[in-house]
Amino acid sequence: MTAELLDGKRVAGEIRKEVAAEVHKYVQSGGPTPCLTAVLVGEDPASQVYVRNKSRACERAGIDGKTLRLPSETSQQQLVDTVQQLNHDPQVHGILVQLPLPTGGNGGTGFDERAILDAVDPLKDVDAFSPVNVGLLMQGRPRFLPCTPHGIVQLLHRQQISLAGKQVVVVGRSDIVGKPMAMMLAQRDGSCGREVANATVTLAHSRTQNLTEVCRTADCLIAAVGVPEMIRGEMIREGAVVIDVGINRVEDKLVGDVAFDEAKEVASAITPVPGGVGPLTIAMLLHNTLLAAKLQHPVA
Ligand code: GUN
Repeated sequence: MTAELLDGKRVAGEIRKEVAAEVHKYVQSGGPTPCLTAVLVGEDPASQVYVRNKSRACERAGIDGKTLRLPSETSQQQLVDTVQQLNHDPQVHGILVQLPLPTGGNGGTGFDERAILDAVDPLKDVDAFSPVNVGLLMQGRPRFLPCTPHGIVQLLHRQQISLAGKQVVVVGRSDIVGKPMAMMLAQRDGSCGREVANATVTLAHSRTQNLTEVCRTADCLIAAVGVPEMIRGEMIREGAVVIDVGINRVEDKLVGDVAFDEAKEVASAITPVPGGVGPLTIAMLLHNTLLAAKLQHPVA
C-alpha cells in the first residue's frame, strides 16, 4: 500500500483564508484589529524562525503580529512583569511566550517556565497553556484549544476521517501536544463534531511496555515524541492513519518522529514532514487570536 498524503499545508491555507475573512468581518462590525504579541527571549535560531513565521501569517490574515524581543539575560521577574504589562494592554489580545525559554536565562539559573505561562491572562492565552484553559478543556467546555492538537482535528475532519469508536494511540505525553490530543479525541463533542472525537485513546510514553504491540493496535497513530524516525514501519497496523507531529532537524534536513518511507508502505494515510502538521499549528494560532479579540471585545 502507498499511503495517501494528508496535505496539512493545503488545509492550513484553507483555514487561514477562512480566518482572514472572519477577521475582516469582525473589524467591519466595529471590532479592533486583533493583535498577537509573541515574546521571544534569547537568540535561538529555530525560535526566531518560528516567531517570524507566526508574525507573517498574522499580517496576511489581517492580524497585527508583534514580537517583543528580550535578551537571554532577562530575569524571571522581568519576564513575568513583561507578561503582566501585556495582560493589561487593551490593544494586545493574544500573548504567546515562545518556548523553549533559554536554559541559561534568568542569570544562569534558568527560568521557571510554568510560573511564566501561569502569568498569562487566560483570556489572552492563545496557546491554551494556562491551568484555566487546560481545566476547561478537560471538562469538555474548552475556550481556547491548543493549536497543534486542534490543527490535527481540523485536518482529520476536513479529510473526512472518522475516529469515533476507533482505537487511537498517541505516543508522547507532553502538555503541548500528547496530553491535550488524547483528551480531545476521547471526548464526546469535539471541536469539529462527534466524528473526530469519541475515540478509544491510549496515551503511550517512554515507560510504555511493548510499545510496538501497543502502536499496532491503532487505527490512528499520532506520534509526538520529538525523537527522529522513532516510529518504524513494523509499529504501524496495515491501513492505519498516521499523524506525525515531529519536526526534528537531522543533518540540515527536517524529519518527523515517523520513518516516513517505511510508514507510507503500511499506512492508508500519512502526514508528511514538512508540510503536514506544522502549518496547521500556525493556522490555529490565528484562529485563537481572533477568538481572543472576540472574547475581549464582543461585537453585535
Ligand atoms: N514552541 C514550539 N511550539 C510552540 C507553541 O506551540 N507555542 C509556543 N509558545 N512555543 C512553542
